[in-house]
Amino acid sequence: MNMKFWNKWLRKSHRWLAIPMLILIPISLILKLTGNGAVIASIPQWEAIQSLLILFLALSGAYLYFLPYLNKWKRNRRQARVRVPVNQQTRQETMQ
Ligand code: HEM
Repeated sequence: MNMKFWNKWLRKSHRWLAIPMLILIPISLILKLTGNGAVIASIPQWEAIQSLLILFLALSGAYLYFLPYLNKWKRNRRQARVRVPVNQQTRQETMQ
C-alpha cells in the first residue's frame, strides 16, 4: 500500500476518534470532579481504554503534524534529483 493510502486512513481515524473522545473526555472529567468516580470505576478497563484512545490520537496527531514537513522534504529531494544542470539544458529550455 502506498503512503497516500495510509495518510488518508490515519487522518480519517484521527477525525473519527475525535467524536467519541469529545463525548468521553467531558463526561469522565465531570464524573471525577463531582465525586462520582465510582461510576467510572464500575468499568474496570475504562482508564486503560481512555489512555489508549488518547495515545492513538496523540501519535496520529503528531504524524499529521509532521506530514507537511515530510512532504516538503520529499518534494525538495525529488526536485533536486531531476533538476537538469544548466550546461546540459537545450537552448529552448534556457529561453523559457
Ligand atoms: C496530543 C494529541 C493530538 C495531537 C498532537 C493532534 C494533532 C493534530 C494535527 C497535527 C492535525 C492536522 C491539522 C492539519 O494539518 O490540518 C489534527 C487534526 C485533527 N484533530 Fe488532532 N491532535 C491531537 C488530539 C486530538 C483530539 C483529542 C481530538 C478530538 C477529540 C482531535 C481532533 C482532530 C480533528 C477533528 C482534526 C481534523 C481532521 C481532518 O483533517 O479531517 N485531535 N490533529
